[in-house]
Amino acid sequence: MSSNQTDYIVIGSGIAGLRAAIGLAEAGAEVTVLTKDRISESNTEYAQGGIAVALSDDDEVALHFHDTIAAGAELCDEAAVKVLVEEGPKYITELIDWGTQFDREGNRLVFTKEAAHSRNRILHAQGDSTGREIVRSLLAVARRSKQIHMLAHAITLDLLLKDGEAVGVRFIDQQQRKLIYARAVILATGGGGQLYSHTTNPDVATGDGIAMAYHAGAAIYDMEFVQFHPTALCIPDAPRFLISEAVRGEGGYLLNRAGKRFMQKYDPRGELAPRDIVSRAIVSEMSESASNVVYLDMTHLPSKFLRERFPKIFETCLTYGYDITKDYIPVSPAAHYLMGGVRTDLWGRTSVPRLYAAGEVASTGVHGANRLASNSLLEGLVFGARAAQAALSDKLSLPQPRHELSSDEEGLLPKEHIDPEIKHRVKQIMWRYVGICRSAHGLQTAHNELSLLAEQARNTATANFVTVANLITEAALFRTESRGGHYRTDFPEKDNERWRVHTVQKLGREISTAPLQTL
Ligand code: FAD
Ligand code: SIN
Repeated sequence: MSSNQTDYIVIGSGIAGLRAAIGLAEAGAEVTVLTKDRISESNTEYAQGGIAVALSDDDEVALHFHDTIAAGAELCDEAAVKVLVEEGPKYITELIDWGTQFDREGNRLVFTKEAAHSRNRILHAQGDSTGREIVRSLLAVARRSKQIHMLAHAITLDLLLKDGEAVGVRFIDQQQRKLIYARAVILATGGGGQLYSHTTNPDVATGDGIAMAYHAGAAIYDMEFVQFHPTALCIPDAPRFLISEAVRGEGGYLLNRAGKRFMQKYDPRGELAPRDIVSRAIVSEMSESASNVVYLDMTHLPSKFLRERFPKIFETCLTYGYDITKDYIPVSPAAHYLMGGVRTDLWGRTSVPRLYAAGEVASTGVHGANRLASNSLLEGLVFGARAAQAALSDKLSLPQPRHELSSDEEGLLPKEHIDPEIKHRVKQIMWRYVGICRSAHGLQTAHNELSLLAEQARNTATANFVTVANLITEAALFRTESRGGHYRTDFPEKDNERWRVHTVQKLGREISTAPLQTL
C-alpha cells in the first residue's frame, strides 16, 4: 500500500467513529481515522446524562422500542428502531467488557430516568461524565490496535469520487492539503449545533459530513428536525454548558421569573415532557415575563446527593458563582442535536457506493422527528459497529491513487478554516429564523441571506458550513406542519395526511419526500 492509501478511512473520533474503527481493525484491516481537533474532542466527550439501554430488571426491549417511537412523533423508521433497541444490550455489554465503568451500587448497574422514558433506563458514568468515560475506554481499545492510525487536527474537506463512488478524501493536515484513498469511507463527523448562536455543542460540530455527502450526491433526510435542549446554562459571556436532563429526571424543577413552576400548564408530564415541548414552554414563559432565562431549581434535593450525582455540573456552575445546592440556576434552550442527516440503510450504507455513515451525521430513521434522550450514544455505538461490518462484507477493492493536487492547492493554508465573519452571520440567521419557532416569512428571509453568504464563501470549509445551514432552512420551509423538533407558528398542527413522510434533499434535484420504513 502506498503512503496515501489505507483500507478504510473513518472520519471522526466520537463514539460512532471509534466503534467503527475498532470493528474494522478487529477484522485485520488498516484503518486511518481522521479527526478535526484533539482525538478526544467530540460531542461524545461532553455527553452527560447517559446511554439508554433496556438492561434493567424491570425493563424490556419492547418498552424501549415503544418509547423511542412515541418520542419520534410518528416519523421513526420502525425497522431501524428495532435494530437499535434489540442490539443495544449486546453492544453495551461489550463496552462494559472493554472496560467502560458505568456507575454502580455495589455490583449492580444504576439506571436513571430521563424525559419520555417509561422506565429507569439510562446508564451513566462518574455521575454526569458518561461521554468522557466512553471515549476513554474506546480510545484505550483503539490505541492497542496496530491497525488503527489516528490523525488528529486533520480536517476533511470533501470526498474523492471515481465513477460516482467514494474512493477517498481530501483533507488539511498541518495546514497542508492532502489526499488519501481507501476501499471505503465511513463518515462519523457528528452533528451541527455550531450552526446556531446558542448551542451545547463544541466547536467541531459544524455539520461537515452532511455537506461532503450532499456534494458527493448522497440523499440527505429530515434536516428540518433540530433538537433544542431546554436547559443550557445562560450567563452572559459563559459558554452554553449543558445542565443534564437527568437533573429533572432526579426531581429538579423549572421555575419562571416569578419563582413559579410552570410546566404542568403545558404538559401533564411536567418537567419530563419531551424536549421540544419543554423548550417551547420555556420560550413562552421567557417572552411573557420579558426575561431571557428561566431557572432550574434543585435546592429541595439533598446537597450530598447533588454533589455526588452531578459532580461536573456542580463544579462548573460553582465556577460561575452558582451553587446548585443553594441557588436557582439560570437556563434557556440551545441547539443540541440534529435528527436529520445522511440517509443510510440499516447497515450504514449511504446512497453513494463505498460511502457509509454512522452516528449523529447519519439519518438511520431511529429518531424520527424528535430523539428520545440518551438514544444517540446508543445509535453511534450500534450503527458504528454495523457500518464497519457492512464495509467489510461488501468486499471492496482498493482504488489506485489517481488525483494529484493542482499547483494552486499546494502550500500553507491560513489557520482559520471557516471564515469567522460568515460563520458568525450564519449562526445569527439560524438562531433567529430557523430556531425553536419558525415561519414562512422568517425562513424565506434566512434562505435569501444564506444564498448571498454562499456566494461569498471563498473556501470549501466555509461553503460546507453554509450548505448545511441552507439544507436545514430549505427543509424547514418545505414542511408546512409542526412535528417534533420542527415547529412552524404558521402551521402549528401535525398533518399526518400529507406529512407523515421523510424529506429528501439531493444535489441537483428538487426537495421531495419518501415513505417511512415500517416493519
Ligand atoms: P461526535 O461525538 O460529535 O464525533 C464527531 C467527530 O467528527 C469528532 O471527533 C469531530 O472532531 C470529527 N469531525 C467533524 N468534522 C470533521 C471533519 N471535517 N474532518 C475530520 N473530523 C471531523 N447523547 C446521549 O445519548 N446521551 C447523553 O447524555 C448526551 N449528552 C450530550 C451532552 C452534550 C453537551 C452534547 C453536545 C451532546 C449530548 N448527547 C448525548 C448527544 C451525543 O453526545 C451525540 O449525538 C453523539 O456523541 C454523537 O456521536 P458521533 O460519534 O456521531 O459524533
Ligand atoms: C442530557 O444529559 O440532558 C443530554 C442527554 C441527551 O442529549 O441525550
